[in-house]
Amino acid sequence: MLDYKKIIANKINAPLEKAELLSLITETADDAFGDYAFPCFRLAKEMRMSPVAIAEKLASEIQLDNIIVKVQAVNGYLNFFVNRQGFISDVLTDVIKAGKKYGNDKVGKGKTVCIDYSSVNICKSFHIGHLSTTAIGSSLYKLYTALGYKVIGINHLGDYGTQFGKMIVAFKLWGDKATVEKLGVAELQRIYVKFHQEEVDHPELTEQAREWFVKIEKGDQEAQELFEFFKRITLAEVMNIYKRLNVRFDSFNGESFFNDKMEAPLQMLRDKGLITESQGAQVVDLADYNMPPCLLVKSDGSSLYATRDIAAAIWRKQEYNFDKCLYVVAYQQNLHFKQFFKVLELAGLTWAKDLVHVAFGMVSLEDGSMSTRKGNVVLLKDVIDKAVAKALDIITEKNPNLNNKKKVAEQVGVGAVLFSALENSKIKDITFTFDRVLNFDGETAPYLQYTTARCNSLLEKAGASRHAKIAPDINALDNPETLRLCKLLGAFPQAVKDAAFKYEPSIISALLIDIAQAFNRFYIEHRVISDNIAEQNARLQVVEATGTVLKKGLALLGIDAPDKM
Ligand code: ARG
Repeated sequence: MLDYKKIIANKINAPLEKAELLSLITETADDAFGDYAFPCFRLAKEMRMSPVAIAEKLASEIQLDNIIVKVQAVNGYLNFFVNRQGFISDVLTDVIKAGKKYGNDKVGKGKTVCIDYSSVNICKSFHIGHLSTTAIGSSLYKLYTALGYKVIGINHLGDYGTQFGKMIVAFKLWGDKATVEKLGVAELQRIYVKFHQEEVDHPELTEQAREWFVKIEKGDQEAQELFEFFKRITLAEVMNIYKRLNVRFDSFNGESFFNDKMEAPLQMLRDKGLITESQGAQVVDLADYNMPPCLLVKSDGSSLYATRDIAAAIWRKQEYNFDKCLYVVAYQQNLHFKQFFKVLELAGLTWAKDLVHVAFGMVSLEDGSMSTRKGNVVLLKDVIDKAVAKALDIITEKNPNLNNKKKVAEQVGVGAVLFSALENSKIKDITFTFDRVLNFDGETAPYLQYTTARCNSLLEKAGASRHAKIAPDINALDNPETLRLCKLLGAFPQAVKDAAFKYEPSIISALLIDIAQAFNRFYIEHRVISDNIAEQNARLQVVEATGTVLKKGLALLGIDAPDKM
């Protein structure tokens, strides 16, 4: 597509650096005021004129041509009108030619991004609290991949800590393999809770747990085997969910992987004089940065979460030589990330600036939408299952003759759940409501999927007439609805970059909703399937391009678009 902003920038004769000039040009919100606007306020001082007068002067100097067809000076703004027919056919050709690759880019070529996301805890259930990190991380994975980056998805497993000593004691007392194989993490949770109840009256249990934890650390065979068993059970459940959510990882090196990799980083910090003793513990003082000290070694010699994260960051830099390493973790851990990033920076590791905490808000369920039988946690699996079941009901009612309803219901239910975590600016706390996320007419994934299916069915309906060698009549596209829609389609590639570089998949979700709404307005106003094949074929290009962008956008959010719904 033509770079309209650049073309316009070259036409404006203002005393400004080209880059700044370019950055001031924006798309207009209202097509009546042209397509691009340039504000003149910034120039008032330099040119010693009022913005209104500047706009008039600059407008009179603009050379119009076949691409920029009109310019107006309005209240200190320059409003530019492009050749709209040219613009529309430009966008449509671009999208249709690129197909699935529309929005892809090469900016990331030769660069690597690590994304630490989902990062579940062994022996703990996969609950709704993991939805956002999983959905956002997975979408960033797909966005960066589309931009040409090599992406390493890392599940930094929570598989280290004294709780695993407790788990072993509990298992030996009240557990058995067969039951755990059958009931999974729920059974592990049950005996873990029991441990805490029993521990109150039987302090010897605490002591035994400590001994077993030491055995895990020392690599004792029985301890290792039990621990690996717990890990296998947990991962089996989690992997099932990842599969349903289209989520992938390239590494499962979690906390325990760094057990034998902490000494060198600690020694490095000592050598640089960063570590001080505080009540027997080793810490990095961060008072100068208004933070509590970063605790690295406890008085009993054991390491901490931060110690393992420091070792992990250094290991990842060596292993992957990343350009950026993202940590998609809830804002509750803000301080933890600020602290250990600071420690690495103080150690003189210049790449510490490339570590990014991608923080997000909390998800809660509306009251009463889900019973919490199994203690206080709402399992992600139960939420997905319920969404899929509800989707099946809706589909059965709307389209009883649809083939493979089950598969479509899975795509719709999963899509609705994922979208709920991706639709708002990630830092917001959100309340999940089944009826809202599954509303086919709302600002939801099912609405986007439904609109995509509508595009498919129009193309199908046109059938062979589409391929008859009749040139599309571009006059059929000369209307405000098509213009609006094409502007949104044209904005997609930039949105992919913005979403990736601002770590904000909601930029894609919001654009897709705008596109679907604009498409549905276009569809109401203009008959697509008609006897006038030239007109029909022109409008079918709009349909095809819209379907392509919606499908691609949904894929970048990890959501499948069924062909039919
Ligand atoms: N397992 C941790 C939790 O559930 C998240 C780990 C995030 N990643 C990291 N490198 N600290 O809270």
